[in-house]
Amino acid sequence: MSSSRTMATAAAAALVLGLSACGGEGAGSSGEVAAEGAAPEDLTIGVAMPTEISERWIADGEAVSSGLEEAGYQVDLQFAGDDIPTQQQQVDQMITQGADALIIAAIDGTALSGQLDAAAAAGIPVVSYDRLIRDSESVDFYVTFDNYNVGVQQGTALLQGLGVLDEAGEPGQAEGPFNIELFAGSLDDNNAGFFWQGAIDTLQPFLDDGTLVVPSGQTSIEQAATLRWDQGTAQRRMEDLLTSSYSGGTRVDGVLSPYDGISRGIITALQNRGYGGADNPVPVITGQDAEIASVKLIADGVQSSTIFKDTRKLADQAVVSTQAFLEGEEPEANDTETYDNGVKVVPSYLLESDIVFADDIEPLLVESDYYTAEEVAAGQAG
Ligand code: GAL
Repeated sequence: MSSSRTMATAAAAALVLGLSACGGEGAGSSGEVAAEGAAPEDLTIGVAMPTEISERWIADGEAVSSGLEEAGYQVDLQFAGDDIPTQQQQVDQMITQGADALIIAAIDGTALSGQLDAAAAAGIPVVSYDRLIRDSESVDFYVTFDNYNVGVQQGTALLQGLGVLDEAGEPGQAEGPFNIELFAGSLDDNNAGFFWQGAIDTLQPFLDDGTLVVPSGQTSIEQAATLRWDQGTAQRRMEDLLTSSYSGGTRVDGVLSPYDGISRGIITALQNRGYGGADNPVPVITGQDAEIASVKLIADGVQSSTIFKDTRKLADQAVVSTQAFLEGEEPEANDTETYDNGVKVVPSYLLESDIVFADDIEPLLVESDYYTAEEVAAGQAG
């Protein structure tokens, strides 16, 4: 057992006995990294992903694992089925089993502080993956996308899909008024607020001048939220909105959706109520993650757009940052202001994302080998 593992095990045992109360020092910037300088083959990295239900997180898990393995590390990859206690247990276990670093995409950004304090006490650096872990001093680094800009792109894609803006983002031909509805993500995920704010800031001038109208009147993030980003929950809310606000022939023209799974739930609700025919097209619906099922829907003209976040690049960044800590260095950050987790501003590396309409599938997704043309046609990866 490596010395870091012994330390981790001891720290975790102390926690179990209720003796450890000394957490709070980050392993990277302020504390010591126990495994510093050890050979990669002797080190295990715990990778905690939120769920296997969404194809996006499976791809992330695989990309992070293979990147770490290529760099010589051992990997303990776990998915938590979107269940908070399961994720807490998995991270606890990674620590007791001697993980030397942790890469975590949290389900609930506020639910891991006990685990992270144990990690810090054991000198285990923690990299927060895609979603910011909140309310903990013991988060050493954050790799993600520019989440506010993702929201701006979603708002822009909705306006472009409606024709209010043209391809260049200049005023388009369409004048409206258009009936739209707004969906947000899971409020326990720090990203949800960033996506929402970026989108609303983009849509607000058009809501103010009457180009866009929200017939349900549900315009707060609390009203629009979708717990756990769940497709079925989104479908039910869309069905409720159709019942409450669209009887008597009023049409939905557009829906702001923050994630492809939510978009598919919205589409199912609309199709069940007769949308999708030539004289009653599915409204303009946005998305995020370029999940293969949604990319096919975009190719088929059902979903309007998604946001492509290249998870291969995010995984690379997670690997590089973790490696830096283990080699006794500070990972390179390109943002040290935006991501305040409630206790401290977490140094971050932000990646860029792209809007994908049907015409962008080939150049952005196929030519970069994210998907093959066959996968897009089949709507299934692998
Ligand atoms: C967010 C993530 C999005 C999407 C969503 C639902 O945290 O940034 O890309 O995947 O979760 O899984």
